Amino acid sequence: GASWKLADHPKLPKGKTVAVVVLDGWGEAKPDQYNCIHVAETPTMDSLKKGDPDKWRLVKAHGSAVGLPTEDDMGNSEVGHNALGAGRIFAQGAKLVDLALESGKIYDGEGFKYISECFEKGTLHLIGLLSDGGVHSRLDQLLLLLKGSSERGAKRIRVHILTDGRDVLDGSSVGFVETLENYLAELRGKGVDAQIASGGGRMYVTMDRYENDWEVVKRGWDAQVLGEAPFKFRNAVEGVKQLRAAPKASDQYLPPFVIADESGKPVGPIVDGDAVVTINFRADRMVMVAKAFEYEDFDKFDRVRVPKIRYAGMLQYDGELKLPSHYLVSPPEIDRTSGEYLVHNGIRTFACSETVKFGHVTFFWNGNRSGYFNEELEEYVEIPSDSGITFNVQPKMKALEIGEKVRDAILSGKFDQVRVNIPNGDMVGHTGDIEATVVACKAADEAVKMILDAIEQVGGIYVVTADHGNAEDMVKRNKTGQPLLDKGGKIQILTSHTCQPVPIAIGGPGLAPGCRFRRDIPTGGLANVAATVMNLHGFEAPSDYEPTLVEVVDI
Ligand code: 3PG
Ligand code: CO
Repeated sequence: GASWKLADHPKLPKGKTVAVVVLDGWGEAKPDQYNCIHVAETPTMDSLKKGDPDKWRLVKAHGSAVGLPTEDDMGNSEVGHNALGAGRIFAQGAKLVDLALESGKIYDGEGFKYISECFEKGTLHLIGLLSDGGVHSRLDQLLLLLKGSSERGAKRIRVHILTDGRDVLDGSSVGFVETLENYLAELRGKGVDAQIASGGGRMYVTMDRYENDWEVVKRGWDAQVLGEAPFKFRNAVEGVKQLRAAPKASDQYLPPFVIADESGKPVGPIVDGDAVVTINFRADRMVMVAKAFEYEDFDKFDRVRVPKIRYAGMLQYDGELKLPSHYLVSPPEIDRTSGEYLVHNGIRTFACSETVKFGHVTFFWNGNRSGYFNEELEEYVEIPSDSGITFNVQPKMKALEIGEKVRDAILSGKFDQVRVNIPNGDMVGHTGDIEATVVACKAADEAVKMILDAIEQVGGIYVVTADHGNAEDMVKRNKTGQPLLDKGGKIQILTSHTCQPVPIAIGGPGLAPGCRFRRDIPTGGLANVAATVMNLHGFEAPSDYEPTLVEVVDI
């Protein structure tokens, strides 16, 4: 087996407190009115950028640099934090599912065999995010799975859709539902009884994460399993259009609905003998619903009726909990993460964020693994997020509280590494509210200042970076970078992440003289950060890690 012992770095000392700060959704883009980071007052981040050019640079945070299928794939928190924590680039869920579908291997696996036992007598239910965002799921993968399942004996299929508007433009849901409807009609033409059975907006139905609000999952359960929802339609396209017509309605937050037949009966509740697949490959927003389907003992909400089903995830979502136990595609094997190495080498670690991003600096950072490596050496602190609101209403979120907790952890002297995610740029950026996102960026900058001040006090080192872009560009652009206008001449707000690079800065009184960014890794990405951080703790990184970004020159 692997040896956990890390070699000493030949030049860099041990014993410094290292703060690793991840600004969520904080990319680098040209300064204009849609760049909220530029518009906001961000003196701390500005001073890092304008400071020593050997201590600030950009790194790639999208596409193949983080294991995504193409260079058109924007970065996201899962792949970003995986790369930051693991120090290597793994083919990610999106890519692994593509390969399994392309080769047909998905149908030879244990997971598909398991669910296909139900095809003779039961219904196959597919639940997941309906868009081409490529962050949690992809529509083309859903269509391929529908095709493959029907060709392999699924005679009755029900799709439970979750509308997006967060990884794709708001309003695009209608087109995705139409595409799906057209394909289901094709299947019906071939004698397969295939229909949409229920739906709802991803942020309001099913796709909560890190146990922020179980009500979200309950709404999904009620619609998908029980066939109960406040809205009932005959047709999903008409239903989504109708729900969108309400004032302030958006794809992300559509209320739950079920599709009913002419007699008003829901067409697809989940019953004994059925099979269920959650089609998202990304883990964070599937863990809760997977628990609701998989766990016999479950007290997060009243499930009312618990059908005896065969359930599989597109992937296994949690490697530590082995959740779910059945899955169609094996997840990336993200092993030997930097967190695990550092703990084995005695580094006392503190990690912190608020609920909505808590798992990013713990679960994702540690390779989609929940829990501690070593309880004696680690402390993970979660600050409760406001729940039941959209974050443009509270754009400061818990930045101040996070800053205070991290400051206290640094000043306590109990930790060698403090790791933190500051969510504002991302969470408020996703609402598409430009004014609120400006406030969010300022709050994030203030939290960074608190952390850097504490590092200054203890003679430590800081590494400030981000996981992907978001707040630096809030408008959809054409190929030449001009804002795209809709039919009414209005700009199209970009709620999603971007393909922009992100900054990384190093510094602090503990940074060894002569330690600076190397000049020979111009294409560095997030995966280069782990080796960098290990060096700053006084260790060499394992030889298969992506190379460090720092060197020590004689001065
Ligand atoms: C979400 O899940 O909120 C978005 O799809 C992606 O955001 P994140 O990757 O920043 O979490
Ligand atoms: Co995001």
